[in-house]
Amino acid sequence: MAITVTARHPALGAEVRGVDMREPLDDATVQAIGDAWMKHLVLVFPDQRITDQEHVAFTRHFGEPEIFHQTSLHLRSDRVKEIFLVSNVDDQNRLMAPSAPSQKQLSSSRMWHTDSSYRPTPSVGSLLHGIEISRTGGITQFINMYRVYDDLPDSLRRQVEGRRARHDFSMLHRLVGSPPPTPEEQAAMPPVWHPMVRRHPVTGARSLYISSIYNDAVEGLAEAAARKLIEELSEFAAQPQYMYRHVWEPDDVLMWDNRCTVHAVTPHDPGERRVMHRTTIVGTEPVLV
Ligand code: OGA
Ligand code: MN
Repeated sequence: MAITVTARHPALGAEVRGVDMREPLDDATVQAIGDAWMKHLVLVFPDQRITDQEHVAFTRHFGEPEIFHQTSLHLRSDRVKEIFLVSNVDDQNRLMAPSAPSQKQLSSSRMWHTDSSYRPTPSVGSLLHGIEISRTGGITQFINMYRVYDDLPDSLRRQVEGRRARHDFSMLHRLVGSPPPTPEEQAAMPPVWHPMVRRHPVTGARSLYISSIYNDAVEGLAEAAARKLIEELSEFAAQPQYMYRHVWEPDDVLMWDNRCTVHAVTPHDPGERRVMHRTTIVGTEPVLV
């Protein structure tokens, strides 16, 4: 397959044509996609009418798919265990209210984060397939955290250099009021400390590494000061020159790098169905400094 790659924003995000995710990929194509991914950080593959199995098979070209550890809220698909359900529709195909526990938890993705940063070896990247997309919102926004790090004002840079922040999965329920993790889920995912500036294992470049939804502590700071720092950093990061905003079309598949970007989705009319299936690529090494 000959692929074409067209940037959608100067900072990050590119559209990839000439890939059919239903077909096996040759090594040269996998390499070309991998290279484009490292350059553009977020890839958009339009018109991919794939099944969950094909989604998982495509993901495996780039690593091992993660199996979500939390089972209580049914965000993990029963049919294909590697699929995480970003959906407001239940098993009986009924729309769920925003007050439903799973919807509360998903609402945390409106804040800047990377997927699975609460793991000791956080995720490499994620692939999200838009099956039923929103027309009233539900825009997924991405930030190039290499550029954010490069441009950090000295006052902020001084506060992150050589410092670690804690990432805790159970911060979600405190933040959005979703049910607390069970003792087993809690024990499976104890809080972890990661550097606030990380080096990318492939590109070697440094980026700011923070999470508005999982960072519950910063080394050497009291809770309120830690919170304030993460907010200030997020606010600096969320500038248009660093941001690609993806307006979805049905059967878009997005593939993003969790090691050098953050993302957040905009709200949408809760009366509108939105069904997206995600795979997440398991991390292969601890966060590098
Ligand atoms: C995700 C997420 C974005 C969206 O799937 O990891 O944060 O657009 N969701 O729903
Ligand atoms: Mn996410």
